[in-house]
Amino acid sequence: MPQPTLRNRTLLASGFHAPVLGEVDVLTDVLIAIGRKGEIVAVTRPADPGYAEARFAAEASGRLERLPEGSYLLPGFVDCHVHAPQYPQLGAALDVPLEVWLQKYTFPLEARYQDLAFARRAYSLLVADLIANGTTTALYFATVHQDATRILVDICLEKGQRALVGKVAMDDPETCPDYYRDASVDAALSGTRALIEYVRGHPGNPEGRVKPVVTPRFIPSCTDATLQGLGEIAGDCGCHVQTHVSESDWAHGYVLSRHGITDTESLDRFGLIGRHSMLAHANLLTVADMETLKVRQAAVAHCPLSNAFFAGAVFPLKSALEKGLHVGLGTDISGGPSASMLENCRAAVTVSRMLESGTDPGRPPHARGSGIPTRIDFRHAFHVATAGGAKALDLPVGEFSPGYQFDAIVIDTRAKGGSIRLWDEFDHGEGILQKIVFTASKANIGTVWIGGEVVSADG
Ligand code: GUN
Ligand code: FE
Repeated sequence: MPQPTLRNRTLLASGFHAPVLGEVDVLTDVLIAIGRKGEIVAVTRPADPGYAEARFAAEASGRLERLPEGSYLLPGFVDCHVHAPQYPQLGAALDVPLEVWLQKYTFPLEARYQDLAFARRAYSLLVADLIANGTTTALYFATVHQDATRILVDICLEKGQRALVGKVAMDDPETCPDYYRDASVDAALSGTRALIEYVRGHPGNPEGRVKPVVTPRFIPSCTDATLQGLGEIAGDCGCHVQTHVSESDWAHGYVLSRHGITDTESLDRFGLIGRHSMLAHANLLTVADMETLKVRQAAVAHCPLSNAFFAGAVFPLKSALEKGLHVGLGTDISGGPSASMLENCRAAVTVSRMLESGTDPGRPPHARGSGIPTRIDFRHAFHVATAGGAKALDLPVGEFSPGYQFDAIVIDTRAKGGSIRLWDEFDHGEGILQKIVFTASKANIGTVWIGGEVVSADG
């Protein structure tokens, strides 16, 4: 059993992080000194001056913790797109298109969160499971309900997860059912403001581990007055914004016909695109849309698994990264049928290759794929799942560098029931991370720390 906290202690570990896109930094027997607030104070490598002294001093004062052989330290995962209330639906309801799925399955499920006992039960399971899966930061859509959304905030604080939580705003009676929508523009706006105050004033949130998010579900669910008001709130409060953008042909086409411009252009006019905006999916962005996101320094949440079911398109991750866009990875629970960021890393690699090569064997090879190199590898996937997502959210996590919070997981490659097999003869350096990304599973996830504190001991 590890110590309950690494605050004011030093960890001796080997592992990996990827602060720079496309590169893996292999950490071998490094000393990570953690301060009183869970921040990384120093990372010392064996070749650095003072290493032996620092190691001796930590050991002599009983403040040294070490990872055993076969265990590797990784930054915790940053899931940039989760619908918390949809967890009971994970792995189900995948048989219809997005616009039918919302009305037939998803709105009825989300409406149940009016029942606070149900909300507490479902959200407790979700947050515990995500932490055990290695997700140390999550960007959550909740529901339209004030009280249930507060319960999600409370549970994240109780369990110690770093989280950004939004009360969903959806008030358009043309597209939202009577049983599940904000009753008015005022309800959508005042509910959003109230949640921001609740989170920021929460006595259990002195470190700001949970943050509020302005959350218009997507343009088709919101009236223009609500979008306008939410843009003003975002400007006033300086908090994060999240929504869905150009996800599927239906969603993209809906906005084009209602506003005559793309989602991105429209959201931008409402003041909803800025440095702290996270736009989910973004599959059908135009070149101009990408430019707008770049200029505003906004981010995309890439949801590779979900896109295979609901988008009918693959987000061009590689070109977005090459253009310098901020991109994080999202599970999109429950649009994507996996809560695992590792599985979504694999999906990101797989779909990027299928986009390049194409999929229809009835077409000749030259006409089968995108015609340009779109493939990414495990390095890019791991980066967007950790440091990239953190940077996109402007949070000091996702890498092991001084000043960053110590949010980390252990991959125990020798865990009973695990799915990764390493070979001394063959597996070395970043090759071990490659195997972790492609073959590790929940049984291999050991201790999880957030802000230096143990939040899960054994997956
Ligand atoms: N667009 C609007 N709402 C949703 C949702 O809940 N999931 C997904 N994938 N897309 C959406
Ligand atoms: Fe979504």
